[in-house]
Amino acid sequence: MDKYQADKVVVLDALTYAGNIANLDNVKNNENFIFVHGDICDQPLIEELLVEHGIDTLVHFAAESHVDRSITGPDAFIETNIIGTYTLLKAAKKVWLDGDNVIDGHRFHHVSTDEVYGTLSATDPAFTEDTAYAPNSPYSASKAASDHLVRAYHHTFGLNVTTSNCSNNYGPFHFPEKLIPLVITNILHDKELPIYGDGQQIRDWLYVEDHAYGIDLVLQSGRIGENYNIGGNNEWANIDIVTTISKLVEREFETNSDLVIRFPNAKAAIAQNTESLITYVKDRPGHDRRYAIDATKTNDELGYQPRESFESGIAKTVQWYLNNESWWQSVMDGSYQSWIAEQYT
Ligand code: TYD
Repeated sequence: MDKYQADKVVVLDALTYAGNIANLDNVKNNENFIFVHGDICDQPLIEELLVEHGIDTLVHFAAESHVDRSITGPDAFIETNIIGTYTLLKAAKKVWLDGDNVIDGHRFHHVSTDEVYGTLSATDPAFTEDTAYAPNSPYSASKAASDHLVRAYHHTFGLNVTTSNCSNNYGPFHFPEKLIPLVITNILHDKELPIYGDGQQIRDWLYVEDHAYGIDLVLQSGRIGENYNIGGNNEWANIDIVTTISKLVEREFETNSDLVIRFPNAKAAIAQNTESLITYVKDRPGHDRRYAIDATKTNDELGYQPRESFESGIAKTVQWYLNNESWWQSVMDGSYQSWIAEQYT
């Protein structure tokens, strides 16, 4: 909304456990912003929104995304990621291609993941857009299925689609079940830092605003029907991420005495070693060993390069969690969800 100030933006969100309307506080008073509480599986609602607001560009971010939850409860992943994407495609086809509101220059952009490509060994080359799909978790299988449906709607019906496959994101507003925000908030609460298996699994971390920047480039200049990899060129073993964050939090406590008062139980507040919280736990079933993105196509065709270094991005992220305790406390203790229930039921 900062960059395209004349554009109207309609956000549709079901506000399930990880959705949070407070994340939109900075745009809620913008007259070009509209929030709709609803479900991507509700086809009449999607059609109505496309027509009512004359929407020509749909960016599909909505997904169940936490691998551990897909292992304990895959149903929500099949429903939201596969049926939800299918429903959006059906609605887009009906309105943009078949109805009275045909929009030639429409675009359906699908936000996906590098996890559809499966897992790499330490020496394998990074995933390109031509790497065969080989998803290993119910989460990645559901995203792979949705990617295939998006592709099929282009080839069969001529819907103008693009897909981006991105590596692990991190940054502000990240729900504290994912590794990086979990580690930051657990350190502050003096809770164990659970490392699955040997902690040597590798992920390619990208600052969230660099992901948004990549999606913007695909929307502006991507070729219809194409997939674009977006990555950070930034591979880290999990254990090294955790020790890096531990040191960063300790440094913050050394320079900011207020933190000692706010988080008196943190190891850093009592001059103890934060890394002693590291606890090796049972490995995730089917745990992918390594993800790495080869973003040559996106770099060459769209001029994409991440703008944030990992050093500055992770420092900003730690700062954000230190400065926004009320945000993560309310999403973690459930008070936010009771507020949603009051507002929206
Ligand atoms: P996660 O943030 O769940 O993202 P993804 O599974 O999509 O990569 O996990 C990142 C990595 O961190 C992954 O290899 C699993 C590992 N991990 C832990 O070791 N401990 C944890 O408590 C969590 C949440 C993740």
